[in-house]
Amino acid sequence: MADYILNAWYVAACSHEVGAEALFARRLLDRPVVLYRTEAGDPVALLDRCPHRFAYLSKGRRIGDQIECIYHGLRFGPDGACTRSPYQKTPPARAIVETFPVVERHRMLWIWMGDPALADPALIPDHSHMDNDAERPLVWHVKFDGNWQLGNDNLMELTHLFWLHTSTIGGWKEDAGQTPGEKYTARVENGKVLSRTLNTDVRRPSTFFNGVANGVPYDSWNDTEWVAPANMKFTMGAVPTGTGHIVETPYMVQSHCITPETATSSHYFSGFSRIFQLEGGPEVDERFVAFFKGIFDREDGPMMADIQEQMGDADLLDLDPVILPRDSGAILVRRVVAQRLAEETAQVTARVA
Ligand code: FES
Ligand SMILES: [Fe+2]
Repeated sequence: MADYILNAWYVAACSHEVGAEALFARRLLDRPVVLYRTEAGDPVALLDRCPHRFAYLSKGRRIGDQIECIYHGLRFGPDGACTRSPYQKTPPARAIVETFPVVERHRMLWIWMGDPALADPALIPDHSHMDNDAERPLVWHVKFDGNWQLGNDNLMELTHLFWLHTSTIGGWKEDAGQTPGEKYTARVENGKVLSRTLNTDVRRPSTFFNGVANGVPYDSWNDTEWVAPANMKFTMGAVPTGTGHIVETPYMVQSHCITPETATSSHYFSGFSRIFQLEGGPEVDERFVAFFKGIFDREDGPMMADIQEQMGDADLLDLDPVILPRDSGAILVRRVVAQRLAEETAQVTARVA
């Protein structure tokens, strides 16, 4: 089950997690990676393994833009080349650390762990709503004990809000099974999965201020754009009922990006920009982050751990699960992922043959 799409950009860290000084260690796609910034502030990503005796380089020392291994003192530059061996005039030619292309964008550090020749920054998914300071974009990191594809399943199917999240963001339907007027569509377009959930004539206050005055019935929608392997953007908007379905300004845009840690554990980078409660400064922001983190840690995270435990080493679809109508977006995602994995396997096979 340790299947990863390699030729893709993944979020390695939130920008704020990798400071000016420290060496930041994180396991990504089951490989140890050390991230840091040069003195100029540019992010660097290296395999976190000294080529001598395999010490973690992240436990070493920063010497300017270089890392000195804590075990026997080999020194490496941001390009992975050994710049100094205490034991020889010339460092051994084979003492090279693998490097990974890394790009800072949308308040996140994106890493490419496949063929570096294919690492085109234009392929980084668009989360540009995170660039607009006026909408106080926030991004944070949590983890869950489950395969990365469970993250896609969870986020591409939001009916669970009305069951799993009844005490927080989803408790407003008396009978969650009854969704009169709710329309859901999902389709594949240029390798992306696009879904729309439309609720008309909603008569309950929104969890957050959605741009419509309290007490006024409204139509709300959530457009989800999924980009392989596991990047999702939710665009959420509302208008008074009967005034048309799309406005230029959503009240909230969310980013959800999953990166495998191992076959059975994942990093989850989540964030959003908003048009409400913009005053109040960092305290309000921290409350929002704690609110969303709490929901995930108490509700989604344990659910994914349970599912992983039930699945063991198998793939979900191999276990022949029941498919419900609202699973269509998640199933389309699984199909595109399977296709991408098969393409990469075919390329490797062709190269070897
Ligand atoms: S393990 Fe790094 S120098 Fe020996
Ligand atoms: Fe959830």
